[in-house]
Amino acid sequence: MTDRKATLSVGDKSIELPVYSGTVGPDVIDVRGLVQEGVFTYDPGFVSTAACESAITYIDGANGVLLHRGYPIDQLAEHSDFLEVCYLLLNGELPNAKDKDSFVDTIKHHTMVNEQLRSFFKGFRPDAHPMAIMCSVIGALSSFYHDSLDIDDPQHRMITAHRLIAKMPTLAAMSYKHAQGQPFIYPRNDLGYAENFLHMMFATPCEDYEVSPTLAKAMDRIFLLHADHEQNASTSTVRLAGSTGANPFASVAAGIAALWGPSHGGANEAVLNMLDEIGSVDKIPEYVRRAKDKDDPFRIMGFGHRVYKNYDPRAKVMQQTCHEVLEELGVQDDPVLAMAKELERIALEDDYFVEKRLYPNVDFYSGIILKAIGIPVEMFTVIFATGRTPGWIAHWCEMIGGSYKIGRPRQLYTGSPKRDFVDVANR
Ligand code: SDX
Repeated sequence: MTDRKATLSVGDKSIELPVYSGTVGPDVIDVRGLVQEGVFTYDPGFVSTAACESAITYIDGANGVLLHRGYPIDQLAEHSDFLEVCYLLLNGELPNAKDKDSFVDTIKHHTMVNEQLRSFFKGFRPDAHPMAIMCSVIGALSSFYHDSLDIDDPQHRMITAHRLIAKMPTLAAMSYKHAQGQPFIYPRNDLGYAENFLHMMFATPCEDYEVSPTLAKAMDRIFLLHADHEQNASTSTVRLAGSTGANPFASVAAGIAALWGPSHGGANEAVLNMLDEIGSVDKIPEYVRRAKDKDDPFRIMGFGHRVYKNYDPRAKVMQQTCHEVLEELGVQDDPVLAMAKELERIALEDDYFVEKRLYPNVDFYSGIILKAIGIPVEMFTVIFATGRTPGWIAHWCEMIGGSYKIGRPRQLYTGSPKRDFVDVANR
């Protein structure tokens, strides 16, 4: 523990609180004892609150740093791949060749879903948003695995992690095929993870379908860049749901629901819709003006971040991948990319964005790459959810495998003081 203390004076009281240091990053003040002193801390949106201790991911927002188990995201994006990062997030170390092969083989042999799950999709209209489908079917997965739902059994926790990582692409592709009115395509064990996903998305039973290695590599990198991000809203949702003892499928389904919002994982879809609404480069100044207007709800989607007050390091890698993919596809003069680059240039020069330290985040360029790969806009957040699954389940495993309490925040009550019931005749 610690002998370092912070002193808080409340009225005529002086309260001593323990101070802890992590490996890197800000110290924390342990305020758990405050409730005995009859006061709460107040932090709507948890801007200054550390809700847990974790060893998985570290973010330095001021300097645009993102580490997964200590490894910088740009090095992982350059030298690693999505399944290797899944192993790293879950186990804390990069795998050696033997462990990597074994992990990849394990994931491959969990990609199929129970055939009965196929009938779940029939209940959805063809125009159902795929995130609505994903929230439902991931929660429903728990009904197929009664043999491994003992959350206190490390083996059960690990096989559930493998099943979720393996089945998300299969279910994501099924949600797309359902909307297309096309038959579901089974996963294939001779394909890589991202290659398999694109094959399940775009192949049909009528002919062979070859996945472009360039697009498969770009897809793998997009999954990798979304793999985890500390205690973001959806991961915190997974932890809060899991803290009640809810099974991991239900907890991850709660995370999927939280990710859906346009302020979070829904931003990549919102970026493309925003660029579509702006329509042309000459309209950008008008929209930048609107974004700065407090009375106008318009925000530049893909810009700003609760933690990053510098470039989101993932956005930099994403921008580079964007150029590579569009160059490979021979669409360098993509009008949407041209608009995004002009919007970025104008915004980064504008005093409002400079003062508020608003930079492009992970969602600003990802949508352009996904569009170039041929992924429809309504599937963008499903892609984000697929990439974020290892992060969600690694945090759930870390919490359940350690010591935790049910999450139960308090409040500042501003409602009516106690009053007696008034009969309707006297109201
Ligand atoms: C993700 O938490 C994570 O790690 C999330 C994520 C992950 O990997 O899990 O990184 C993924 O969700 C990325 C963010 C995607 N969302 C968007 O791109 C939507 C547009 N951005 C915002 O709505 C906003 O920036 C938030 C919600 C992301 C963060 O908002 P905060 O926490 O309020 O903090 P901020 O620093 O971004 O905003 C500070 C100020 C505010 O103005 P004031 O109240 O101080 O006057 O900047 C303003 C905001 O109103 N502002 C913007 C803006 N984003 C913030 N003004 C115009 N355009 C914007 N995009």
